Amino acid sequence: MSTAQDKLNQDAAEQSQQPIESPTEQDNEDKKGNGAGSAILLFFILGFIASLIMGWVIFPKVLYSRKKQPINYNHALHIELVDGSCENCHYFRQDGSFSGIPKLADCLECHEEINGVSPEEEKFFTQYVTTGREVPWLIYSKQPPNVFFSHAPHVKMAKLGCVTCHGPIGESTEPKIYEENRLTGYSRDIWGRNIAGIKRNTWDRMKMNDCEECHQRMAYTETVAEIQQPLIRHLKEMVAVVFPNAAQTKKGSSVQTGKGACFRCHK
Ligand code: HEC
Ligand code: HEC
Ligand code: HEC
Ligand code: HEC
Ligand code: HEC
Repeated sequence: MSTAQDKLNQDAAEQSQQPIESPTEQDNEDKKGNGAGSAILLFFILGFIASLIMGWVIFPKVLYSRKKQPINYNHALHIELVDGSCENCHYFRQDGSFSGIPKLADCLECHEEINGVSPEEEKFFTQYVTTGREVPWLIYSKQPPNVFFSHAPHVKMAKLGCVTCHGPIGESTEPKIYEENRLTGYSRDIWGRNIAGIKRNTWDRMKMNDCEECHQRMAYTETVAEIQQPLIRHLKEMVAVVFPNAAQTKKGSSVQTGKGACFRCHK
């Protein structure tokens, strides 16, 4: 019994410790005035957050379907195995055209028989090597069919590195997920991953503006090395803002400004 009594006493003591506030008249008036206002504000903020989530999180998820490459191809492993590195599989033909993704025949040099114990190699062997079927690789950088792009002026003449436009795919141990736009059927690498359009790397996207941006720089810089050196480039571009004609070098790109410029990239 005594414990129950103690508890009651304790509760009473606790309650008496809490100060009891009685609202003043001033407070009551403020609350009446703000009630409707803060409800509207809250409604607005919630709606704003919901639309942000919709646009930045849900919409991209719905817009893009995610696909895996048919085979988990390991670039890093093969770079060690193949001498001559990239050109061994991605080479220029005699006529200057680019071979693109290697054909099955290029792999057979080493894959007539199984080399290792990896299940991925076995899959490649049984599904493609023995049947003679080409691997249906998904191409991250595939442009729309009305765009003409040639690797030769970029890689052979201007000596641009693969990384500048493709990022570090050549060093990857596993292909990244291919994301396809459900409306246009194009790869997400064209439009980029950042919804706000912020571009941190030269390879983040490859829309028309991104081709233009680099060609435009060519008008103010003499060499490709300068394009890749931000400090010199920015200085020259600043000069170009003030004296556009004086800053233009004769060597600059004519892709954007030349006659029939649209038809340099569109057929
Ligand atoms: C043994 C052959 C081989 C070698 C060597 C090789 N690759 Fe590849 N590469 C492939 C195959 C197969 C694919 C297709 C699968 C994929 O996308 O990962 C590919 C795809 C690519 C792609 C993706 C193109 C696109 O838009 O889908 C890039 C970029 C690439 N390689 C760059 C490189 C670079 C850079 C090097 C040298 C460091 C290199 N590769 C060396 C076989 C090779
Ligand atoms: C220079 C020889 C050579 C060429 C060319 C070559 N491979 Fe390989 N590849 C190997 C060897 C050796 C292994 C086994 C490595 C191991 O498992 O130890 C291997 C392993 C693999 C594997 C399984 C390993 C993994 O985890 O990815 C796949 C898949 C594969 N190769 C696909 C290809 C394809 C596709 C091509 C053509 C684009 C190709 N290889 C061209 C030598 C080559
Ligand atoms: C100036 C930018 C640029 C540079 C530099 C560049 N590429 Fe590309 N690459 C592209 C574009 C754009 C496409 C898509 C072309 C198309 O769809 O018509 C492409 C396509 C490809 C493809 C797929 C081709 C196919 O359809 O089969 C491969 C593979 C590739 N590039 C590899 C490389 C390699 C390897 C290098 C370095 C030697 C390189 N690229 C340098 C822009 C570039
Ligand atoms: C990082 C820089 C860079 C990017 C990105 C780039 N280019 Fe270029 N492009 C060059 C350079 C350098 C040249 C050669 C010099 C010149 O004429 O400007 C060139 C030349 C060209 C030419 C002229 C080839 C000829 O001689 O007829 C075409 C067409 C072209 N680019 C198309 C494209 C397209 C399409 C894209 C985007 C998918 C693209 N380029 C992205 C740097 C770039
Ligand atoms: C440096 C190469 C280049 C030049 C020059 C160029 N384009 Fe494009 N254009 C592209 C590429 C790459 C795409 C596909 C990617 C995209 O949609 O942004 C494209 C897409 C387009 C589209 C499709 C719209 C879209 O965004 O999907 C139109 C329309 C177009 N270009 C019109 C033009 C016109 C008009 C000119 C001349 C003033 C021109 N282009 C010059 C590279 C070029």
